[in-house]
Amino acid sequence: MALVTVTIDGQTVQVPEGTSVLDAARSIGINIPALCHDPDLTPVGACRLCVVEIENMRNLPASCVTICTEGMEIRTNTPRVREARKTILELLVSNHNLDCMTCEKAGSCLLQDYCYEYGVSGYVFEGEKHDYPLEVDNPFYIRDMNKCIVCGRCIRACEEVVGKNILDFVYRGFKTKPSPFMDTPMSESDCVYCGSCVTVCPVGALVEKDRLGKGRTWEIEKVKTVCPYCGTGCTIDLNVMDGKVIGVTGNPEGDVNGRFLCVKGRFGYEFVHSDDRLKKPLIKKDGQFEEASWDEAINLIASKLNEVKEKNGADGIGILSSARCTNEENYLLNKFARAVIGTNNIDHCARL
Ligand code: FES
Repeated sequence: MALVTVTIDGQTVQVPEGTSVLDAARSIGINIPALCHDPDLTPVGACRLCVVEIENMRNLPASCVTICTEGMEIRTNTPRVREARKTILELLVSNHNLDCMTCEKAGSCLLQDYCYEYGVSGYVFEGEKHDYPLEVDNPFYIRDMNKCIVCGRCIRACEEVVGKNILDFVYRGFKTKPSPFMDTPMSESDCVYCGSCVTVCPVGALVEKDRLGKGRTWEIEKVKTVCPYCGTGCTIDLNVMDGKVIGVTGNPEGDVNGRFLCVKGRFGYEFVHSDDRLKKPLIKKDGQFEEASWDEAINLIASKLNEVKEKNGADGIGILSSARCTNEENYLLNKFARAVIGTNNIDHCARL
């Protein structure tokens, strides 16, 4: 691939043709603030926070949508650039709900981080504030449009990652916000509740219901594992607090899914600590289930299988496996059927 050479804050770097100024800067460790930009979504240049100075350009272009060209000289942190960014942040927080002390996203909110970095207090511009009711009509997440910064990441995730196109901007001007068609409630839309919009939201406008008050981001331990729900094998991070799973997020390194999951993988983790979950084998005795040891249960199953085999031969037994098992478990079951029992009667729910 052809390369172009640019200079960023005095450092010369070669990047593939078509690379944005933002990505070129980040590739050499120069962090340019960005709110509407998400590496998994198409850049749109909406928030203008990523502005930079480029030699021979009068205006301050948004670096996320400006492509590097040969010989470009870029400055990312001049007083003019910093002042522009600070004004953008002041404007963004002028109608923002400044409840950072209790906001679920505090500590992992990009807007909060940048306001801290640029010394933005939130009290420079005065004017109208939104007073939207919390949208709690769906089972999995809360939409607080008072905190929305209209970056459009949720809209692009729904369109580009999920392909559902549930969201778009509704209304115009100050009233603009992302919503389903005609501003109907999420629960009346075709939303599949995969939570991709929540994943990409950079502020506290979209938060998971079940996570509320359960722990700050920096307190949570992330344990990498594979989603147990189907054979796709998405890589997930169990979000663990005090030994309990309090949430699940997609693992950005996951080859299959990256940061995105389906509704079951993202929100269906309550079973892990459910009181209804079976933790010991049960054996039916006199019509009632009774707890048993694993040895007892396995011996009973072995004796029943032997009974069937003696009476009807090995092909009297059939085994059904599951995509919810790991590859190793399915391999073992295959061996068990063919090599131990002696039948080829084994099938799998994911076989087409
Ligand atoms: Fe570039 Fe928003 S991050 S315009």
